Amino acid sequence: MTELLYLTDSYKKECVSKILSCVQKGNSWEIILEKTIFYPQGGGQPSDKGFIVGKKGKAVVKHVRMMEEDVVHECSVEGMFDKGEEVTCTIDWERRYENMKRHTAGHILHEAVMQVAPYLKPIKADHGDKPYIEYQGSIPMTETSQIEREANAIVKADKEIITTFVSLKELQERSSFVPEHLPKHKPLRIVEINGYNPISDGGTQIATTKEVEEITITSIENTEESVRVYYEIKSHEQKRSDSLQDTISSQTFISELIELEQKANQKPSLTEVSVDELKKLSQSMRSVPKEDKQRVGIVLNQVKQSLEALLSKKAKESGIVNEDWMDVTAPGIRPPVGHLHIVTQAIEEITEIFNKLGFTRVRHPEVDWDWYAFEALNMPKNHPARDEWETFLINHTPGVKEVHTPGVRNIVLTPHTSNGQVREMEKGILPIRMINIAKCYRRQIDVSHTPMFHQFEGLYIDKNVSIGHLKGVLDYFAKAFFGPDRKTRIRPFHFQFTEPSFEVDISCGICNGKGCRLCKEGWLELGGAGMVHPVVLANGRIDTTFYNGFAFGWGVERCFMMKSGTQLDDIRVLYGNDVRFLEQF
Ligand code: FA5
Repeated sequence: MTELLYLTDSYKKECVSKILSCVQKGNSWEIILEKTIFYPQGGGQPSDKGFIVGKKGKAVVKHVRMMEEDVVHECSVEGMFDKGEEVTCTIDWERRYENMKRHTAGHILHEAVMQVAPYLKPIKADHGDKPYIEYQGSIPMTETSQIEREANAIVKADKEIITTFVSLKELQERSSFVPEHLPKHKPLRIVEINGYNPISDGGTQIATTKEVEEITITSIENTEESVRVYYEIKSHEQKRSDSLQDTISSQTFISELIELEQKANQKPSLTEVSVDELKKLSQSMRSVPKEDKQRVGIVLNQVKQSLEALLSKKAKESGIVNEDWMDVTAPGIRPPVGHLHIVTQAIEEITEIFNKLGFTRVRHPEVDWDWYAFEALNMPKNHPARDEWETFLINHTPGVKEVHTPGVRNIVLTPHTSNGQVREMEKGILPIRMINIAKCYRRQIDVSHTPMFHQFEGLYIDKNVSIGHLKGVLDYFAKAFFGPDRKTRIRPFHFQFTEPSFEVDISCGICNGKGCRLCKEGWLELGGAGMVHPVVLANGRIDTTFYNGFAFGWGVERCFMMKSGTQLDDIRVLYGNDVRFLEQF
């Protein structure tokens, strides 16, 4: 006898159980478990699907039915299962949740029908793909909108769904509708929408009516003796296309992978092995919700490896690959094609945007004299502002000529791209419209810091440059890179090398500036900016009587993380070199 876990907890997506039996029936296998979360078809509700995984076998559950006191899981099986073996069962949650909602929606609709047409007698219901409830009698079409209104009033009232196990006698006394053929081996249960009539029911139910969201009556079909009320709920498919992020169920994805592996095993020849299908599935990895990516990635890799092993085994068997000779007419193996790293892609995009504004990308040293990184930027030796940059120092090689300040011998791994400011001014060509993108190094590592990262530094030196120009350039960049709806704002701040100085924020793309967990107040910080300090201009030999300018320096990785749709919450992932992650871009 299988214990029915779904009866007490319809929200359980995974369980550990034991194999009672696993027998082959034609092309399919039938597995009986000690306990199950899989709902067997019945009561108008379709069966669950999903998968069962053991030590040596994997099964894709395609259909589930009740047989006497046991639940039979009809599956395709890869490998084998031993009697008594412990297995992990996972249901296709999206399918289950959809079915559960449709089922409860049927109950809600029934209550609404009873309010409008209490003279009707329920006959049966189907909560599958084209759900309906059937009654003896008829309903005038004019009542459709009233029934729909009543039903949605129950949905909105967020009523609790209460389930109770009862004896047959109690069921007959309490339930307003007892079906003719009650299941013989299932416990009897009644379900009530809080405040409405209890009804006999053994299916899976959602917790409160609000989860249904909305019920629509699609048609009312009267025949001579009976009437069917067809309905729909706001389905997952609709919601998926409604939502910005197109995610697919990880369970569905894993089931498809396992099935693909099984199919490949059954196919006789090499050419039929589903390499293309696997490729297609790998591409949908980007649609798997972020929190499931690791779990799904592991299975994807296992299936990839097993397909590769299968390919070479089949190639050997079919004689295409032989130790001694080679068939030169055999189809070639296409090597995997890589792509530019995502940070490089971001750098290219940033360069292009600034090019359009007349800024030219330049390169300046990434290992530079202390003078350019600090001193020339109005940060003399021992100035406390230097601490913020947590700089890596390089020993000065004896004999190398010191630059500018006698006694300042340090060479640094540039902690910011601002070292390019004075170097660019020293070229003596005006006006300056530079965008310097380079690696930067700091002694920092956490979710928003890496020891090596990139910055892009803008520098504009011309006659009569104002903060308005700065704001205009930053706004243009933000709209081009992050999307037309994003806005920037500047906030007073302090940098030694700009006066006035600002920090630049961008409106949060996740909450559209309303305030959320990530941004708190609707704005996210991108980097610094300001009007170039006269001391810096003088160090770059710029004639400050005629010229002034602005500068800004932002993190490339941070910008990439805040780009619409990316929503990365740990910067270190960018440099983890995990191909499964990088392949998604
Ligand atoms: C500076 O580095 C200034 N040079 C910016 C500047 C340039 C101001 C020109 C005014 C005029 P800050 O230390 O705040 O400022 O760094 C700027 C941005 O670099 C940060 O907002 C962040 O986006 C990025 N950044 C800084 N440290 C790291 C790090 N360890 N890992 C990743 N990104 C970082």
